Amino acid sequence: MSAPPPVPPPPVPRHIAIIMDGNGRWAARHGLPRAAGHREGVQAVRRTIEAAIGHGVEWLTLFAFSSENWRRPVEEVTDLTFLLRHYLRSELRELAEAGVRLHIIGERDRFGSSLKAELADAEARTAANRKLNLVIALSYGARAEIATAARRIAEAAMAGTLDPTTVDETIFAAHLSTAGMPDPDLVIRTSGEQRLSNFLLWQAAYAELVFDDALWPDFGAANLGRAIAEYARRERRFGARPGPADAPPDGEGP
Ligand code: FPP
Repeated sequence: MSAPPPVPPPPVPRHIAIIMDGNGRWAARHGLPRAAGHREGVQAVRRTIEAAIGHGVEWLTLFAFSSENWRRPVEEVTDLTFLLRHYLRSELRELAEAGVRLHIIGERDRFGSSLKAELADAEARTAANRKLNLVIALSYGARAEIATAARRIAEAAMAGTLDPTTVDETIFAAHLSTAGMPDPDLVIRTSGEQRLSNFLLWQAAYAELVFDDALWPDFGAANLGRAIAEYARRERRFGARPGPADAPPDGEGP
């Protein structure tokens, strides 16, 4: 009797994008100020990066600050930017040693020049790393990103450097802040909310969506593992597809 064929390993998403939600509710439940929830959220960021590397995920995008977050009280915006700066300063070396390459997307011009310089430095210092691409979305909003891409294309057409009749999905995507990055295969949102909240609206067109009830500061390796397992289950169900999200066959329904 011949041996059964080997069972292929379940597919791991190449690119996972996460809407980290629930820091404020976590803090309220623990009777703490919102800043404590964001601080605890940084621990979850650490755990998630480590777990993503363990699973062999190539791209991890974290929604750290939305364009709408500027409407929060100034103290909270300051807390968030302080935390981000502190995170970069204290962990860049460790991230770099782990083979992490950092990318920032979003309207970074809205931040002060010293934070902008630190972000650019962090990107430059990790540019040769290949283990995990960590994309941090900062002051990011998908509609603004799409409008900016449209404006750049119109400007290039008016300048005569781009023939407008050639503009297709590939050319459009090349004008987004995610140019050159693969689309997310899996989008996770924590805290039980089930919305995309203006996150990667173009890029997530074919992503699988997983909603986890955990508040972001409670998220960890087990949660990520469950989301990946759920993704793998869905992939098997739609097994006729050639790949996770990059090249859906023509005519595929939603
Ligand atoms: C949503 O929770 C979370 C944020 C607005 C910020 C996320 C930021 C971090 C986890 C820390 C910094 C990030 C990095 C990459 C170092 P919320 O405040 O909207 O929670 P709520 O909906 O319960 O109020």
